[in-house]
Amino acid sequence: MRLGILISGRGSNFEAIANSISRGKLDAEIAIVISNRPGAKGLEIATARGIPAKCIPSRGLDREEYDKLLIEELKANEVELVCLAGFMRLLSANFIKAFPNRVLNIHPSLLPAFPGLDGQKQALDYGVKIAGCTVHFVDEFLDSGPIVLQSAVPVLDDDDVDSLSARILAQEHATYSQAIQLIAEERVVIEGRKVRILPERAA
Ligand code: GRF
Repeated sequence: MRLGILISGRGSNFEAIANSISRGKLDAEIAIVISNRPGAKGLEIATARGIPAKCIPSRGLDREEYDKLLIEELKANEVELVCLAGFMRLLSANFIKAFPNRVLNIHPSLLPAFPGLDGQKQALDYGVKIAGCTVHFVDEFLDSGPIVLQSAVPVLDDDDVDSLSARILAQEHATYSQAIQLIAEERVVIEGRKVRILPERAA
C-alpha cells in the first residue's frame, strides 16, 4: 500500500510510520512526504532517510487551488492512502472526493472531546483523568470522521502540557502504524459513522 504523508512540522508521526515499515511491522511503502511549510523538520528527516519528500507551500493559495496541487502530486505518486501527520490545514470536499475513505488523521485527544488546536492542553485544563489519541478517517470537517483506533493515556496530578503531550505522543506513534496496518490488511470496514475491525484472517 503506497502512502502519501502530509506534514507541516516536526514529523515525528511520519518518522514512527517509517520506522514501523523498516522494522517489518507495517506492510506499506511511503511514496511521498509533502509539507505545506518550507523548513519543516519532517522534510529533513525524510531526505536523510532517502524517502521522497517535497514542499508544496500553501502560503497565498486558497484551499481549492492548494488542494488541487496536492491531489496532482499524490496521484502522480500513485498514493493509495493519505496520512495526515501534523498537517495543519483543513482539506476541501474535492480533496476528500479524490481519495474517498482513504484519508487518515491522528489527533492528540480522545475525540470527540477536544478537537482543534492544543488537544492536550484542552484536556489538562478541563481536568479529565484520561486523555489519549485518535486515528480517524478524514471528512471535510475538523477532527470529525469515523474513528479507527483510540489509545487512552492517564492524566497524572502533576502533569503539565509537555509531560502529558510526550506520553500521548508515544501512544500516537504506536497507534497510527497499527491503524494503517489494519487498513493494509483490509480489515477496516466503514459503516456510517462507525468503523468495524474485522478479525485477523487465519494463516
Ligand atoms: C501530533 O500531536 C498530532 O497528533 C497532531 O499534530 C502533532 C504532530 O506531531 N495532529 P508530529 O509532527 O507528527 O511530530
